[in-house]
Parts: sequence; structure tokens; C-alpha cells
Amino acid sequence: MDTIVSAISHDNGSWVQVNLKNQTSLRFHAVWLRDNALDENTRAAGNGQRLITLADIPENTRIDSVQSNGTSLQVRLLPENIALDFPVDWLIENAYDRPTQDKPGWLHGEITTWDSHNLQQVPTGDFNAIRTNTPALGHWLENVRRYGFARLAGGPVEPGALLDVVRTFGFIRETNYGPLFEVRTEVNPSNLAYTGLGLQAHTDNPYRDPVPTLQILYCLENSAEGGDSIVVDGFRAAQRLRDEDREGFDLLSRYCARFEYAGSADVKLRSRRPMIELAPDGELIAIRFNNRSAAPISDVPFEHMQRYYQAYRHLANIIDDPAMGVSFKLEPGESFIVDNTRVLHARKGYSGAGSRWLQGCYADKDGLLSTLASIETVALEAAQ
Ligand code: FE2
Repeated sequence: MDTIVSAISHDNGSWVQVNLKNQTSLRFHAVWLRDNALDENTRAAGNGQRLITLADIPENTRIDSVQSNGTSLQVRLLPENIALDFPVDWLIENAYDRPTQDKPGWLHGEITTWDSHNLQQVPTGDFNAIRTNTPALGHWLENVRRYGFARLAGGPVEPGALLDVVRTFGFIRETNYGPLFEVRTEVNPSNLAYTGLGLQAHTDNPYRDPVPTLQILYCLENSAEGGDSIVVDGFRAAQRLRDEDREGFDLLSRYCARFEYAGSADVKLRSRRPMIELAPDGELIAIRFNNRSAAPISDVPFEHMQRYYQAYRHLANIIDDPAMGVSFKLEPGESFIVDNTRVLHARKGYSGAGSRWLQGCYADKDGLLSTLASIETVALEAAQ
């Protein structure tokens, strides 16, 4: 644990500089400290929810005095004249005094991008282990957070087993396709995913808003020739586009594309979102890429459309580059999960000999990340 060496109030008490033993310093504003006070009058003891609104905080809140005993910072704030205490670990964990990221397309350190060259092996978990062993589940989910996909082996060859995979960390996202859907050859396919054709790498259902953020594909039969699954890191692809064609990257992130699905009479799903989605501070947060459900793009100004299409083609070429894809063949009882906001999936074509039957379903990433964070918190507390 780091310790506080000294704390100095600046600018008539508008902010405090906290000097740490590790030679770094962090600055915190008085109003920020007041809003994030940890005392029981500000935060509910049971659930940690904030009990005050900003209107309860005087606009002229300022620091009257600061001191530290090394392990925590004590501040007295005026005009409320209240004393607040902040543990040094909490201050470090919640610090905002750091250089801003100025290059759009940056990613959080929990994410590692990959391609076929640097991904040493497909992250894989065991079906029974993740259902019965919390550390094994945590490890598998951590791989999903870091790489955006993970395989799961050793499951039963039973229809519906994929729902048990979701239940280990969250909830099924039911859609017009039902709680789960069948992916197998049909004579009159209503969707190209159900034929034996190869499929270009894509994210699923970009025509939904919000998109399903996780997809699970679970294999029940796979005796057909071919039909390997391929995954592509869309974040790596977007960053490659940024580095090769910055203007093209800006166009795909600045303007919305449109997506649509109207596969049956009672369904007409539409969305208007960019292919490369950035947070306002430039963080790369989502990829939408699906040639089958792309609707006419009508939100790009005329003078930029030609250039936009060049960028779209450039991104598609990167995604189709064999060096970007990692492939594996699912055996019956095996499955994989993808972060559908990041990792594209594809399928090599397969022949009519033999059969291929997968089941798919959707779920959402917030539940997965919540389960993972809970596991990590418990593990951290146990280690202390
Ligand atoms: Fe798909």
C-alpha cells in the first residue's frame, strides 16, 4: 500500500495536491471530494448509493484545512464545515489526475488486441469447471473481457445446453429469434446464416439498438466438411485502419451507418449507428460490421460519401485479411462466446456431406462483467 507523504491545499482551497511516497502526486478538487464523500450521511451504509444531490453541495465549497496520517487524507470543507476522510487506496483507485489520451481508438488496459500471429492459443475453458469452480469461471470470464472471445469444451451434446453456459454469469437476451436459435441447413433459408455458404466476418444483429453484446454458439453436430469458425478482433482491425488511414477511421467513426433486418412480416428492425463507435473521449467502444444487414447509408454528406466508401472497403479488406483471423473447428459439446461489440465471427463454407448443427443465443456483457468483478473482489479480499 502506498502512503501519503504530504497534502497541500491550492487556489484558495479549490483543490488539494496529495504527494505519495512513490514520488507521484494526485490532485483532487474540493467539490469532487465533497460529492464523493464516504461518510454515512453521503453514502448509504448498505448499498453504497449516494444520498445527496449536487444541489445539496454549496457551489462555493472549498478546502479549509488538510492533513494526513499517511494512510488517509483528512479534509475540512467550508462552508459546510464538515470533516471528511479518504483512505489512500481509495484515492489512488479513483484518481482522475492523469494525462488525457489524445489518440482516438484507445483501449482500456484490461483489453488486449490480437491477430493470428500474436494470439498464442485460443482461450478455452471447461464446461463443467466453469459451472462448479468459481476460480475457473473467473479465469474464463477474464479471457472474454481481455480477448473478446473464449471457447468452451467438454459440454454435453444436448439441445439447450448453451443456456446453461449463460446462466453461469448472467441472463439470456431473448429476441424475435427466441431465447435460442438453430443454425443449420434449411431448404428455404430465411437468413443466410442457415445455409451452407461461407459467411464474411461480421458482428451479429447490428440492426438492434442496443445490440446484443454477447453471443454464444454451441455445437451439437459437425460432421460436414469445412464449417470452421473464424473470429477476428474488430478492435485490432479498427486500430489498424486508424494507423493506415486516419482520415478513413475518422469518417467511419464520425458518421452513422444504417442497418436493417426485415426477415418476416412482423419484424422490421432498424438502427442508425457508426461502424466504429468511439466514446466522446476517443475510447474505442464498439464495432458494427455486417454486409448482410447493412441498409443504404444515408447519413454521410455527399462530399464525403466516395471517401467513406473507400474507408469502408479498407476496413473490410483488413477484416478479410487471413492474418487477422483465428480459426478453430467446434466439436459436438463445444461452444464459443464472443463480445459482439468487438469480435467478429465468420464461417468457412461447408459441404452437404454430413451435417452441421449449432445453437446460438444472446446475452449481455454487463452481467458478465458484473459477475467477473464480484469474483475478483471476493478473491482480492480473500488474499488480504
Ligand atoms: Fe452471426
